[in-house]
Amino acid sequence: MISKFIGNTPLRHCEALSTRYHTNIYIKEEFHNPGMSAKDRPALFMIQDAIDRKKIKPGGIFVEASSGNTGLGITLIARKLGYHAKIFVSQSCSKEKIALLTKAGADIEICDNSNGLHDFNSTQFRAQSFAATHPNTYFTNQYYNTQNIRAHYKTTAPEIWEQTSGNITHFIAGVGTGGTISGVGRFLKEQCNNIKVWGIEPAGSILSHFLKHRTLPTFMVPFDTIEGIGRNFVPGSFDAASVDQIFQVNCQETKHAAIAYYSQTGIMTGFSSAAVIASLDRYVAKMGFTPADTVVLVFPDHGDRYISKLYNESGNVHQAMLSSNITSF
Ligand SMILES: Cc1ncc(COP(=O)(O)O)c(C=O)c1O
Repeated sequence: MISKFIGNTPLRHCEALSTRYHTNIYIKEEFHNPGMSAKDRPALFMIQDAIDRKKIKPGGIFVEASSGNTGLGITLIARKLGYHAKIFVSQSCSKEKIALLTKAGADIEICDNSNGLHDFNSTQFRAQSFAATHPNTYFTNQYYNTQNIRAHYKTTAPEIWEQTSGNITHFIAGVGTGGTISGVGRFLKEQCNNIKVWGIEPAGSILSHFLKHRTLPTFMVPFDTIEGIGRNFVPGSFDAASVDQIFQVNCQETKHAAIAYYSQTGIMTGFSSAAVIASLDRYVAKMGFTPADTVVLVFPDHGDRYISKLYNESGNVHQAMLSSNITSF
């Protein structure tokens, strides 16, 4: 059964980053899940919850609005359990993710999120509307489903706690729905309130402002497109009480970080993983790591999903690197 293969992902010591920042940096490699992303965890919890509460009958349709990864997790699990999947994705979704969703058997609709997630043509609105007007459907609704946080609280967090033997001092993750940082952050703070829980979001996203002021910014600007992270509203699955600080990085420095990291390590990172790497360079003084710290970064998915976006259409990474002025890791 697919659920047996979800979670228990490795935590790998990263030599390159540890040396560069004079501390101990570990990477939680979530691309080892069956759908090759962290989002298999909430997908499983949300589907299981709906089935347990008899919200959907066998053969029904699970519906989700997704930048691709949650959609893939929902599709793989739903189909294995005898259900269908209807996934509303934004037009900015990488072609690799669309190909994976198609192969997995999802019924896909491409939507337009350029006017926000509550606009008539958005993934969120269209998914909600589809579920409301079709029988035997269930909208998993990752932005407002408590199972999203719960999945990370119950699985990702205890795994990290165990894998670091309780020595973790910093947890850093990209923030999209907020499920990962809220679930892991809540668990870690319960173990030791001094553990730093830091989020990363794209420039222009509003969660760092919200965390600081508990209000929305007066002026909203479009946020940089880094797939999977960044929002212009506060999701219900973002628990501000579990997060200490959110740092912003822009798209360009994220792309540079991806290419530099690849050049140094031979590993292609996902887009949001590269944003986390970029944040280290930009904020390392503020972060103030010591050689005794144990820093855990989440890599929610892998660079193979972003060959066309991050590593050049032709996959010619080195060419891209030469044309950008970057430091190596
Ligand atoms: C690649 C990637 N990174 C980061 C995130 C953000 O995770 P969360 O939604 O738990 O905040 C997502 C969410 O879809 C994602 O797909």
